Amino acid sequence: MEALVATRGVLSRAISAVSSKPIGQGCEVKRIPLPIVSDRQILVNVHAVALNPIDFISIDRLAPRGSVVGCDYAGEVAEVGKNAPSSWKVGDRVAGFLHGGHYSDRGSFCKYLTIDGDLAWRVPDGLGYEEASTYGVAAATAMLGLSVHLGIPLLDTPSTDLTTQPQATESRGTVLIYSGSTSVGLFAIQLAKRSGYTVVTTASPHSFDLVKKYGADSVFDYRSKTAAQDISKAFPNITQAFDCISKGASTEFCAQVLEKNGGKIVTLLDQGKSKTKGVEYKFIVIFTALGEAFGWLPPIGPSFPASPSDRDALVRFYADLPSYGDVVKPPPLRVLGSGFDKILTGLQDLRGGKVSGQKLVVKLE
Ligand SMILES: NC(=O)c1ccc[n+]([C@@H]2O[C@H](COP(=O)([O-])OP(=O)(O)OC[C@H]3O[C@@H](n4cnc5c(N)ncnc54)[C@H](OP(=O)(O)O)[C@@H]3O)[C@@H](O)[C@H]2O)c1
Repeated sequence: MEALVATRGVLSRAISAVSSKPIGQGCEVKRIPLPIVSDRQILVNVHAVALNPIDFISIDRLAPRGSVVGCDYAGEVAEVGKNAPSSWKVGDRVAGFLHGGHYSDRGSFCKYLTIDGDLAWRVPDGLGYEEASTYGVAAATAMLGLSVHLGIPLLDTPSTDLTTQPQATESRGTVLIYSGSTSVGLFAIQLAKRSGYTVVTTASPHSFDLVKKYGADSVFDYRSKTAAQDISKAFPNITQAFDCISKGASTEFCAQVLEKNGGKIVTLLDQGKSKTKGVEYKFIVIFTALGEAFGWLPPIGPSFPASPSDRDALVRFYADLPSYGDVVKPPPLRVLGSGFDKILTGLQDLRGGKVSGQKLVVKLE
């Protein structure tokens, strides 16, 4: 089968890591063998893939030469391992994500992939493959950050459609979702609302309507000099924040908001130790939920142990997701067309910071 495969050696990745302009494309379409399906896995015939910043970050800096790139996918079950959990059948509609840019036989930017049967979710009738492909890295990261690391219970509340039904009168708490217009942020806003939380978020003014449409109660422009102060004044009891961009001064901004009460900030890039008394930073990486330990740029880069509790949370999330209905909508989609060339075009847009409030999706036919 054809797959998009990383081509950089260590030196090229190191140069990419220190320069803002990586040399060359860093990947190519290659023919590779069909993956072998183990007892606990299913084989998926991929119909659509969603693009994430980690895809180009992998190509430029992390992915060993020969590894298959791409994380998010939706498609059809093509084969079922004999002990695969979740009673899959050939032809079932399925979606999820895997650790792209890490393995030579596994990634989503190819025609077939393998995944443990309980680490994928059943796509409901009426949801297209393009939409379904977006509930991968971004949705799972939102779930992991909120439910496992901020302790916001996502999975025990009945679904309510935020757009048509009155919301709970009593809020269970307030959470700051920094950078709500990111894909992670849009999922986090919806999941926190579903749990009965008041959501205060930040975005550029051009994304204000978008984040409100996805359920945010209040939105502030993160470029305003007084925004952190304004938030802590308007929400004086806030102790939880999810930094969905973790760039520039974003985590410090969250710390300023939490400064008065203390609290916890979940970050998506390593921000080191908090310098604000009483405020804890917790850096998460979604791939810990896939059940295998991994390292980036070994032996010098960071290593991450497998986390059984993160994996359990992902299994529960994907088991429940089909029942979430319209309550957890995909981000606005931009379907770029079909084929590997479109993936490369989309990754270039992501690399150039040209994507705002949208999820790029490509069909693989
Ligand atoms: N650790 C993990 O496991 C993990 C998992 C998923 C994602 N991530 C990381 O999390 C980040 C978000 O991922 P995503 O897929 O959700 O991104 P995305 O949808 O591609 O993010 C695009 C948005 O980023 C916002 N943005 C860009 N630069 C910003 C800045 N300096 N400050 C505030 N907002 C900024 C823009 O918001 P406005 O247009 O409103 O300004 C834009 O809407 C990425 O850095 C990604 O690599 C990490």
